[in-house]
Amino acid sequence: MTSGEVEVRPATAPLTGTVEVPGDKSIAHRAVLLNGAARGRARVRNVPTGADVRSSMQAMAHLGAGIEAVAGRDDEIDIEGCALAFQEPRGAVDCGNSGTTIRLLAGMLAGGSINVTLDGDASLRRRPMARVADPLAEMGARIETTDGCAPLVVHGRSLKPHVHRLRIASAQVKTALLLAGLQASGTTVVEEPYRSRDHTERMLAAMGVPLRVDGNVVSLDGPSVPEAVDVDVPGDPSSAAFLAVAALLVPGSEVTIANLCLNPTRTGFVPVLARMGADVTLTVEREVGGEPVGTLTAKAGRLGPFEIDAAEVPATIDELPVLAVAAACAEGVSRIRGAAELRVKESDRIASVAAMLGALGAEVTEHPDGMDIHGGTLAGGASVETAGDHRLVMCAAVAALVAREPVRIVGSDAVAVSFPGFFETLEELKA
Ligand code: S3P
Repeated sequence: MTSGEVEVRPATAPLTGTVEVPGDKSIAHRAVLLNGAARGRARVRNVPTGADVRSSMQAMAHLGAGIEAVAGRDDEIDIEGCALAFQEPRGAVDCGNSGTTIRLLAGMLAGGSINVTLDGDASLRRRPMARVADPLAEMGARIETTDGCAPLVVHGRSLKPHVHRLRIASAQVKTALLLAGLQASGTTVVEEPYRSRDHTERMLAAMGVPLRVDGNVVSLDGPSVPEAVDVDVPGDPSSAAFLAVAALLVPGSEVTIANLCLNPTRTGFVPVLARMGADVTLTVEREVGGEPVGTLTAKAGRLGPFEIDAAEVPATIDELPVLAVAAACAEGVSRIRGAAELRVKESDRIASVAAMLGALGAEVTEHPDGMDIHGGTLAGGASVETAGDHRLVMCAAVAALVAREPVRIVGSDAVAVSFPGFFETLEELKA
């Protein structure tokens, strides 16, 4: 998605107010995919209306789950699960721009009895799929890739459990293997070098699947058919991070984001901002569906630099681009390392963030697994490309608020992948 263009002008007044952001994308994908595969009926509330979760909904409908909008609501759905008895779809299942949809489905379908082609848009077709196909093959799966990428053809067949030791921490890969484990007789084990987001573990446990978590190791006893559960999706911390950084940078701002998922495997950007000297607080207020939920408040102030290495990357992976924007407006040189995974996201987020910040006047040095960002004042006054990447669009918009001159953002429609109302929410905070 590279269409659309918007101009963002430097902020002339503080950002203030309390807002909510769309429901968490990771939790919503899992609510749709796992309930679609489960036994029984569930309601999912506060479903984000972005394109990514729609891809999971359409995919599950093609595979035989009942997906119905609740009358009069665009953010609530009822799902009738197919109890792992998937129906062979006609034609390829289109996963759009969504890496989570395609990788989780590869695992979920590997142990079934149907053949399915999984495909997506041009960006998704460039993303690595061997990372799921190879470990699934260890369980006996047969998945054909196209030179390691999508389209994938999954030939469902019976699987055996396996002890997986992952080289990279990836919740998508971990989840794909656990979902395959639902249909393997015995204990499937996934060990990660660092702990990635754990929404799957929390949701499968709530669905009655026998599963144990011990540090970075998850074990699941199959075969097991999950029982459907209602899910109230809390707000997405990855979307909130853009508003939080905007509030920290625009002088005089104070912004509160309510009803937010505060799962610590997702909020790693908050301690990083705190190390920069930011006035940012998290308040856990309740637990919803096994996930801590609460409020984030960010107040503007002076920021210093940060350093991030591999251990901190899994809990900040989707927020590193906006942390780089914060670094470009802080004092001193910030360093990100151990983040080569950024190169295989919706865009190569090391190259695209460096190019975007460079176009706005920042000095950024790329490294194979990260970048050095020299803080200062952004000149702006440029047109920036966003590589069809929703998070790049929002990064450019946040940077533009504190640049000296207006910034034109090319490809701004991509924002609809995760946060369709992003520009409207910014306006609301300016009012
Ligand atoms: C996701 C996991 C992360 C993240 C992506 C969503 C998930 O990817 O970047 O936006 O929902 O499991 P990896 O698991 O590939 O790191």
